[in-house]
Amino acid sequence: MPAQVIVVGSYVQDQTWLVERFPQVGETLRAHGFNTGPGGKGFNQAIACTRQGAAVTFIGAIGNDALGGIAQHIAKNENLPCRWQIRNDQPTAAAGITVNARGENQIAISLGANEHLDADFVRAQADIFASARVLLLQMENNLDALAAALDLCTQHGLLRVWNPAPVHADLDLALLRRADIITPNETEFALLLQRFGNTKIDPANLAQQNDATLHALARQLGIATVVITLGAHGSFVSHGENQRGDSDACYRIAPESVHAIDTTGAGDAFSGALVAALVLFRERPFRDAIRHANRVAALSTEIVGAAPAMPNYAAVIARFGE
Ligand code: RIB
Ligand code: NA
Repeated sequence: MPAQVIVVGSYVQDQTWLVERFPQVGETLRAHGFNTGPGGKGFNQAIACTRQGAAVTFIGAIGNDALGGIAQHIAKNENLPCRWQIRNDQPTAAAGITVNARGENQIAISLGANEHLDADFVRAQADIFASARVLLLQMENNLDALAAALDLCTQHGLLRVWNPAPVHADLDLALLRRADIITPNETEFALLLQRFGNTKIDPANLAQQNDATLHALARQLGIATVVITLGAHGSFVSHGENQRGDSDACYRIAPESVHAIDTTGAGDAFSGALVAALVLFRERPFRDAIRHANRVAALSTEIVGAAPAMPNYAAVIARFGE
């Protein structure tokens, strides 16, 4: 089946240590669990999306090394078509993640090959853009590769969804505005507003703001649809002129109650599932896709790990109903 969704993004080998609390400077702390598996915001989102039943192709860069071999093997097992740029001069990315008893994480990451994804390599994948409907991006790659993907969308009329995570130091507003939909979390939204809207807000208080305030803040960015993920507070949607079938220009979707043990990749679950729902739900309002994304994100926190923790469509329906 030709790709409906293209994810241009990162692959990272995640190594996760489960600890009671985060270690202090100079402290050696014993973990009570360890887990290694696929991660990277791009790959996580591609897995979340494909597990909802959308036809996804992933484009990314890995090293010519053992971890790169693991990446290819995992993608094959998942039946996820990939266009890998295999680099001889850069390692496959790896991340060290500690998760505390509250399910919160701290991550140190070396992006390796992800920051050297050639724009020409992306352009050479033009064939899959011709049939696809949505492009999904993050910010763990060099921006020129992402810009090349956005160019192909203009040519072939794809919807552009961008999860600005983590906000790239060289990002400029003109580039970000090429997205139709962005999905920042509270921290990323505050950073974007500070950088491009000249407005300083405290991300910790964001969820407590009223809808009109959040909507006005989101509109400062000049992007058609802004979806802010608010963690345990659910999510907030702000539309400009195109309301994508919704009756309201802005609204909130309540969180789902789950037993979170590891929130790593929950934002990725959200963006990947949102895009899948946009493709699969077709004529349904945007709101329904957001609700599904919220559910996928919530369930992903009940399992340790990033990509492996993404629930499939059937699991979401079994837990929450249609
Ligand atoms: O969003 C979670 C991801 O961020 C992890 O899988 C880690 O690899 C980092 O890229
Ligand atoms: Na998880």
